[in-house]
Amino acid sequence: MKAWVLEGFGLKNLKKLDVPVPKPGARDVLVRVSAVSLNYRDKMVVEGTYNPDLPFPMTQVADTVGDVVEIGIGVSRFRVGDRVISNYATRWIDGPPAVDEVVHTLGNTIHGGLAEYLLLNEDALVHSPTYLTDEEASTLPVGALTAWHALVKNGGLTASQTILVQGTGGVSIFGLQLAAAAGARVIVTSSSDEKLERAKQLGAKDLINYVRTPEWHKEALKVTEQQGVDQILEVAAGRSLGQSIETIRPGGKIAVIGILDGFTSEIPIFPMLQRQVTIRGMVTGSRKMFEEMNEELEKSQIRPVIDTVYSFPDALEAYDHLYRGAFGKIVIRVRP
Ligand SMILES: NC(=O)c1ccc[n+]([C@@H]2O[C@H](COP(=O)([O-])OP(=O)(O)OC[C@H]3O[C@@H](n4cnc5c(N)ncnc54)[C@H](OP(=O)(O)O)[C@@H]3O)[C@@H](O)[C@H]2O)c1
Repeated sequence: MKAWVLEGFGLKNLKKLDVPVPKPGARDVLVRVSAVSLNYRDKMVVEGTYNPDLPFPMTQVADTVGDVVEIGIGVSRFRVGDRVISNYATRWIDGPPAVDEVVHTLGNTIHGGLAEYLLLNEDALVHSPTYLTDEEASTLPVGALTAWHALVKNGGLTASQTILVQGTGGVSIFGLQLAAAAGARVIVTSSSDEKLERAKQLGAKDLINYVRTPEWHKEALKVTEQQGVDQILEVAAGRSLGQSIETIRPGGKIAVIGILDGFTSEIPIFPMLQRQVTIRGMVTGSRKMFEEMNEELEKSQIRPVIDTVYSFPDALEAYDHLYRGAFGKIVIRVRP
């Protein structure tokens, strides 16, 4: 089969190769891959900032959807023909994770989905929502599940809340869609006025250009009449986390998700105390959360926003787009 395999760090070492189709062992499921979606994390894996000890060669990409074509002995959760999606934290089933349950991820410690076939233990898969296309379903494991975990599971999202999402990437746009569908007020920040306009069409009420207004927290306070916001999806960290603390309503929650502005932050303690803010780190979600989210999606029929779909031979162009930044998600169609 064809697979995009990373042979060393750097995009120049991501190569389309012929590799053997894997054989299912006990409790394994062989998936014929339909589509994958890219995440910022896939860029970090290629660059070596995600896992400096990455074993090579390693087939890339986490988010995968496809159809079950073969099952190993003892598989009970799936049948041949089922449409399935990979869970990012492949060993995290339910409850608080053990340390090793969040580190075993596709394209990192096990081969990923940017290949014609993917072999996974049945524990690492969920059934796909039926109403989504393959391309849409491929966007759920990282971006959508992380936003859902933060806003719904951890944040108890309601119509009366005000939510702030940073930038217009995969996590933030799905967070915007979830919050808008729940009737919440959404503030979006972006470096691009054009992207902010598109966010408005998805239901964002307040729009802040964080390049033109670097002190975006002051603008967020202004539009909320100094009340602040209930929840923030903190995908930037770095200098941004301190600004988020200044923006939170007393008792509000900051879900620390990403590091787009840096791996370390200075935290202003006084506003943190006054606002009694909860800051919580987030790693995607358990399989149970993924299944719960999919049930809710079947009801709300939210359709994830896809910026561009690339073909399998054009995978490197899809990575270039990831490096430039997308509005929502970038997808690679694997099966023609
Ligand atoms: N903890 C987890 O489980 C988890 C899960 C998913 C993602 N993440 C992390 O979350 C972050 C976002 O991931 P993603 O896949 O959604 O990324 P993405 O789709 O590549 O989105 C990147 C977008 O973020 C915005 N951005 C960049 N720098 C920013 C800054 N300093 N402040 C505010 N916004 C900024 C830009 O939007 P504009 O063009 O609109 O400015 C950019 O296009 C990454 O750090 C990723 O590693 C973590």
